[in-house]
Amino acid sequence: MTTSLLLLRHSSSAAAVFFSSSSFVFTKNTNSSRSFTSIKMERGEASEQITGEKKKVFVAGATGQTGKRIVEQLLSRGFAVKAGVRDVDKAKTSFRQDPSLHFVKADVTEGSEKLAEAIGDDSHAVICATGFRPGFDLFAPWKIDNFGTVSLVDACKKQGVNRFVLVSSILVNGAAMGQILNPAYIFLNVFGLTLVAKLQAEKYIKRSGVNYTIVRPGGLKNDPPSGNVVMEPEDTLSGGSISRDQVAEVAVEALLDEEESSYKVVEIVASADAPKRSYKDLFASVKGH
Ligand SMILES: NC(=O)c1ccc[n+]([C@@H]2O[C@H](COP(=O)([O-])OP(=O)(O)OC[C@H]3O[C@@H](n4cnc5c(N)ncnc54)[C@H](OP(=O)(O)O)[C@@H]3O)[C@@H](O)[C@H]2O)c1
Ligand SMILES: *[C@@H]1O[C@H](CO)[C@@H](O)[C@H](O)[C@H]1NC(C)=O
Ligand SMILES: *[C@@H]1O[C@H](CO)[C@@H](O)[C@H](O)[C@H]1NC(C)=O
Repeated sequence: MTTSLLLLRHSSSAAAVFFSSSSFVFTKNTNSSRSFTSIKMERGEASEQITGEKKKVFVAGATGQTGKRIVEQLLSRGFAVKAGVRDVDKAKTSFRQDPSLHFVKADVTEGSEKLAEAIGDDSHAVICATGFRPGFDLFAPWKIDNFGTVSLVDACKKQGVNRFVLVSSILVNGAAMGQILNPAYIFLNVFGLTLVAKLQAEKYIKRSGVNYTIVRPGGLKNDPPSGNVVMEPEDTLSGGSISRDQVAEVAVEALLDEEESSYKVVEIVASADAPKRSYKDLFASVKGH
């Protein structure tokens, strides 16, 4: 059973609605005909094209609702993917076979040594899309969303992987934003201080020196995108929602445009009123650290 939280936009405050669903629909996103090779060519980096070697990305939480979309989009954009999962056999059944997709066991609570082994020495980047699964362990958010992510960063350092993309959340710094009475902030923190755990992980990433992009989405939806992506600097948005397809797209675009996306925290929601802008413009509009 998967559980989702939807943050509904409201004029002054955000209301939290909790719902569960036992299944979700995977919607294939946008146009996938553009390969990484052709993107490289546009940028004049022909060497990549000659060798034809694909950049490999390690995805933690690859079986998650956002993680799965990230994997699919990476593959369609010409990356090779090492999917880090807790149950390899189970994970294999939920993806289409692809010669560029490999699975490796990776439980983020098992420490950085094992994670470094899982990531290997052939990964260019790590995308973290993990999130605790609601259950009886009150410490799960702390173990997974804080320590788990910290271990992943440590594992990257061990392997010399210098690119890290984290799927975090808006309102992680809600207390500092004066949003402590925002129902969404209260609600998420009742579930084991989830947002505080994520904020701790973010701080660790920033201190680590790794080349990072922290993506903080609003409430996640499984519906296909409706509306354009709005991208804001950290601690700006206190409500709104976005399709997981778009969150995955932002995570993948961060790897395609490292120049504009590196060392940045971006908050994203979707809005029907927002103009359509290129990801390059969106990333460029947010100041880095
Ligand atoms: N729900 C929202 O509205 C909302 C809003 C903003 C941000 N977020 C955040 O966005 C992220 C993605 O959310 P989502 O709903 O797409 O995720 P999800 O479907 O709940 O998936 C969570 C993923 O984390 C993995 N995971 C859990 N514990 C793990 C562990 N110990 N080691 C390795 N992997 C582990 C799960 O693996 P298994 O398949 O093995 O369980 C699964 O792949 C989360 O961090 C979430 O907190 C959510
Ligand atoms: C995808 O993009 C290509 C070229 O960029 C275009 O020729 C094709 O029609 C597009 N396909 C879809 C389904 O939009
Ligand atoms: C890191 O960041 C810079 C931008 O400051 C970027 O140009 C570079 O390619 C990035 N990637 C890696 C893997 O270091």
